[in-house]
Amino acid sequence: MKYCSENKIPVTPIGARTGLSGGALSLYGGVGLSMEKFNRIIEVDTLNQQVITETGVITQVLQEEVAKQGLYYPPDPSSRGSCFIGGNLAENSGGPRAVKYGVTKDFVLGLEVVLPDGEIINTGAKTLKNSTGYNLTQLMIGSEGTLGIITKAILKLVPMPKYQLLMLVPFYSEEKACEAVSAIFRAGITPSALEFMERDAIDWVLRFVDDVTVPVEDNIKAHLLIEVDGNHLESLMLDCEKITEVIQQFDAGEILFADDDAQKNQLWKLRRKVAEAVKANSVYKEEDTVVPRYQLPALLKGVKEIGHRYGFKSVCYGHAGDGNLHVNIIKGELSDQIWNEELPIAIREIFQLCVGLGGTLSGEHGIGFVQKNYMDIAFAPRSLSLMKSIKSTFDPLGILNPGKIVPDGIN
Ligand code: LAC
Ligand code: ZN
Repeated sequence: MKYCSENKIPVTPIGARTGLSGGALSLYGGVGLSMEKFNRIIEVDTLNQQVITETGVITQVLQEEVAKQGLYYPPDPSSRGSCFIGGNLAENSGGPRAVKYGVTKDFVLGLEVVLPDGEIINTGAKTLKNSTGYNLTQLMIGSEGTLGIITKAILKLVPMPKYQLLMLVPFYSEEKACEAVSAIFRAGITPSALEFMERDAIDWVLRFVDDVTVPVEDNIKAHLLIEVDGNHLESLMLDCEKITEVIQQFDAGEILFADDDAQKNQLWKLRRKVAEAVKANSVYKEEDTVVPRYQLPALLKGVKEIGHRYGFKSVCYGHAGDGNLHVNIIKGELSDQIWNEELPIAIREIFQLCVGLGGTLSGEHGIGFVQKNYMDIAFAPRSLSLMKSIKSTFDPLGILNPGKIVPDGIN
């Protein structure tokens, strides 16, 4: 970094390249800085229930390592088998378990960061509480490699819950499925995952994976995948009964309870593979919309209405319990001209809808390159200028991951 700084060479930190907002693209050439050799888990501190890790460690590898000590690192993006902890920190990744446990930011106690000029700083401490000065740790989380390069992290862990019960619930209407989501929480249950898949999502993924079969009736329009976890089986069974009672009010079909680990893995595979299945089908645009949970039905309805007006098809799925809906806009037979010129206008409408409902542009995929020119929908010019100033304070020469997050033309 010292060399690049002295020679004004752009540097783009690159994790496992599973990101969905173009954060790791070297827009201005220069150095693509691979983090894959930072792959050591330094210490699992069982006494304090923490782990100190380098940031090129694969998320699932870290999860499996701490699980050997009966500990749980819940943030689990669908790409957890290949994404790096560093990428999760840079994007503030979430995943299905965020609904109960929180997203990546909620597990970070401290960081080691290399600044653009090569100086190394440490943020935070090994404490669960910390009210000491400006929170540089959290400023780094979600900064998408634009402020510094995160080389080490102290992460909080929780005890591994003994049981996880999983059910797949079909619905005869997409909107009813979405309405059931907030009703479950209002009935006093906090599931450890509450995922939504509209019909196309499950159909496409069933065609894409060859070792999973789930019977789906013709008139089913959507599914919720619901998990509860904890240490007391009887209490979890009661939670499932309560959930069953609630969803019956929303026109649900016959529930499939996963009987064993093999079936649970199959259902999770279905859910985690949706993005890949869509990618395999068509060129698409990934929009990571998020609204307050109760507004989810309005968001889905609005997205479909915008699609109808602009003539595009979308496949929607995601972390319904968080109000976090992944809207995959399918290119299909659309012309390049419509795709490149009209779609950005439609996407702007989708984001306006999100903000109007009290939500924002991205729940867990970041802004990166592809969403930066929509930032004005969520932020006033003054807020964007503040972001630009923060960037300049860390990186006065503008060499670190240039062209990301802050929209063009902000001073
Ligand atoms: C998922 C990724 C795309 O939820 O965020 O599968
Ligand atoms: Zn997701």
